[in-house]
This record gives sequence, structure tokens and C-alpha cells, in this order.
Amino acid sequence: MKLLVVGGGGREHALAWKLSLSPRVHKVFVASGNAGTALEPGLENIPITAVPELIEFAKKESIAITVVGPEIPLAAGIVDAFQAAGLKIFGPTRQAAQLETSKIFAKEFMQRHHIPTAAYAKFTDPESAHAYIEQHPAPLVIKADGLAAGKGVVVAQSQEEAHSAVNALLVDKNLGDAGSEIIIEEFLQGIEVSFIIMTDGNHILPLATSQDHKRLYDSDQGPNTGGMGAYSPVSFVSPGLQVQIMHSIIDPVINGLKKDRIHYTGFLYAGLMITAEDQAKVLEFNCRLGDPETQPIMLRLKSDLLPLIEHAIDGTLNEMDAEWDSRTALGVVMAAQGYPENPRKNDVIYGLQDLVAEQESTGNFHIFHAGTSMGGKNGNEIVTAGGRVLCVTSLGENVKAAQHQAYKIVERIRFDGSQIRHDIGHQGINN
Ligand code: AMP
Ligand code: GLY
Repeated sequence: MKLLVVGGGGREHALAWKLSLSPRVHKVFVASGNAGTALEPGLENIPITAVPELIEFAKKESIAITVVGPEIPLAAGIVDAFQAAGLKIFGPTRQAAQLETSKIFAKEFMQRHHIPTAAYAKFTDPESAHAYIEQHPAPLVIKADGLAAGKGVVVAQSQEEAHSAVNALLVDKNLGDAGSEIIIEEFLQGIEVSFIIMTDGNHILPLATSQDHKRLYDSDQGPNTGGMGAYSPVSFVSPGLQVQIMHSIIDPVINGLKKDRIHYTGFLYAGLMITAEDQAKVLEFNCRLGDPETQPIMLRLKSDLLPLIEHAIDGTLNEMDAEWDSRTALGVVMAAQGYPENPRKNDVIYGLQDLVAEQESTGNFHIFHAGTSMGGKNGNEIVTAGGRVLCVTSLGENVKAAQHQAYKIVERIRFDGSQIRHDIGHQGINN
């Protein structure tokens, strides 16, 4: 059968690659993909982004199932549109995606269903927001309500920073409508983990645990990014803690959605803070898989992904289980010069050819592409085309071994101005 994956980042490369390994799949189209998905056996890029054209394409090619990677098409209602056209698609509807697309919706949802999260207040006018800051000592977290591609959250260490974050959103309107409503949130201390599940609306299949590294520089310093690397599993998320997460967060989310009469099908990502008392609290929901968490998760998934998605769409996810490689997978992101503010494009990437041959023969690592395209002088070189360029993802017996091998591969890849963190997995080694 033929499948379609919507998106063009590292997450979509990993998803499409994994789906292409299913014995029942003979082609996975990727809209619009990157150089990695262009070169990967079994995948084919299509240069389409508009939803009506994707629907036309899915009909013409008899696509069995479409899987959506990023939040933007979900927020735009791609799932509603495909379903209305009678096409099978995996992801939440526009209404259900509000768990990610509106932080206020998510907060009110969590409050209504008693799901642990940071205390907060919401504001539209700057005066009341400033007054609130005066009564609540920093650190405080200021968040734009709407989608802001990772730019909507400021962790303010001082009252001044909090005031200026409020002004940037509510007075200067730096994020436009996305920031015309804000929340101010209690600062939570602890260790962050990503807990991602699949759901058919009733049943839950948890994926392997993972941890992202959001800051640009080593030791979690510098500006926030989309994520500079990730690994799976996270050993300090003990079986007991997983039970707590399911019991206090995931089950109440799925039951809450049902109570609110919102049908949710798709991946659901809970960004969690694990406090010093080992309590999990929700920082955010994403209505999709994480990037770069997906890359190590897919490298560890031993089960065929296709039947998991089929059962989730059909409402029979309870019949399925996922089998995981017991090894650790760790992905190091190589980002472009200038990322995250102003990434430079068109730098030629060297060293990939030999590594791709090795990756095929050993099967214990995979170089997932994100911001890459075919270019250069003759149009047949792989060049940078976005902020996060590659995610070099490797398996190893433990975090340290996976980390060692991932960085050995990273050393063999070169492009001008490349940025990496040197400590991906540090909390997995030190905890
Ligand atoms: P979010 O998009 O809500 O996950 O926020 C982006 C990042 O900001 C998170 O990954 C955390 O590192 C940080 N953050 C968000 N909310 C809080 C909070 N209440 N306390 C501490 N850090 C936070
Ligand atoms: N890695 C964080 C995210 O996908 O939102």
C-alpha cells in the first residue's frame, strides 16, 4: 500500500523511514520532505503543502493512510478536511489540537480535569499582567496563548524580565495574534521529560520515554531551540513514575477529552517536569510527536508502526502492544550557522555518502535529515536549508555508548558554521 507523511523535518524523515520498513508498504510519499527523504529507499517527496492539493493527491494515488507530523497543518484542520473527503488520516482534529494550539485552552482543560500543572493566571491587558507580576516574585514564566514556533515562552528570572516579556507580547505585539492573550505561570523546578502516547480516543499506547535538550548550548545554557538532541529511554522515569504519569496525567487527559466530547485520535505529547519530590507536572501538551524525540524513539521501535496506526484509527488500539529495542538511542542535532535566530542556508554538507552506506550495513544508527535540500553547484549536493539540519541518531548498550557512537559519526559530517551540543544525554548519564 501507499502512505503519505505530511511534513519535512527530522521527525517526518524518521516516521516515513519507519513506515517504509513495513512489509505491507511499498511507497511512502512525503509532503514536502527534505534531501534525506528524497534519497531514502522507499520514500518519495512531493512538492505539495496546500491541504486541498494533498487531498487531491491522496485520492489520485489511492493513499491508504496519511500521517501528519507537524502542528501547523493540524491547527489548520488537515484532519477534518481529509475525513470530510472520506480519507484515512492519523492525527487530531482542529478542535482536539487546541491542547497544543491554545495554552489557555490546555490550562483550563487541566484545571477542569484535575491534572497537575503549574499555577497560572491569564491576561489580555498589560496593566493587570504588570500588577500580577508585582505580587508574584520571579522566576515567572510568561507564555503566549497561541502557536509561536518555540518563541512563545519566556522564563523570566527577574521582575524586570517578566515585565518586558509582557510588554513584548501585549504592547509591542511581537507575536501578533498568537500573543494577544498570555498566561503567567509559576516556575517549576525539576527535570524535564517527554512522555508521548498514541490514542484512538479511548485506549492508550504509551511510546518509549524520551528527553529533549531545548537550550542551544552545553549544560542547558543559551536560547531555547526546537530541540538540540534527544535520547530514549530515560532511566530515571522508573516504572513507578510511569504508573504515576499514566494515572495522574494521561488517563485523566483521555477521560477529560471524552467528558468534554472531544474525540482525539493521534499522537499526544506531554512535556513534563519531574519535581524533586518525584511528582510529574505538565508543562505543555503537543498534539503530535516531538522533534527530535521521534528520531531515537523510531530507531528503538521494533514493532511495525503501520498496524499501530491502523488500530488507532479503527478504535482498537487496545489490541496492540509496542516492542522496543532494549538499547538506548541517542540523537545529536547538527544545526545551521545562526540557528535559532537566523539560520544560514546553502552550506554544502560533506561526509554523508560513506555514512549512509555504513548505516545500511550496520543498522545501528541512522542519520535523519531536517533542514536539508538538494543544491550546490550542480544541484546534486546536499545543502543546509533550515535551522536544524541533521539528527545523527545511534543505538548503544547504554546512554554513554549511544552518545559515544553518535558523536563519532557527527565528527565525520562537516558543513560551514555547524552547531552542536556536546553533552546530549548528560542527565541520563548523571542520574
Ligand atoms: P513549553 O513550550 O510550554 O514547553 O515551554 C518551553 C520550555 O520552557 C519548556 O521546555 C521548559 O524548559 C520551560 N518552561 C515552560 N513552562 C515552565 C514552567 N512552568 N516552569 C519552568 N520552566 C518552564
Ligand atoms: N522537542 C520538542 C517538541 O517537539 O516540541
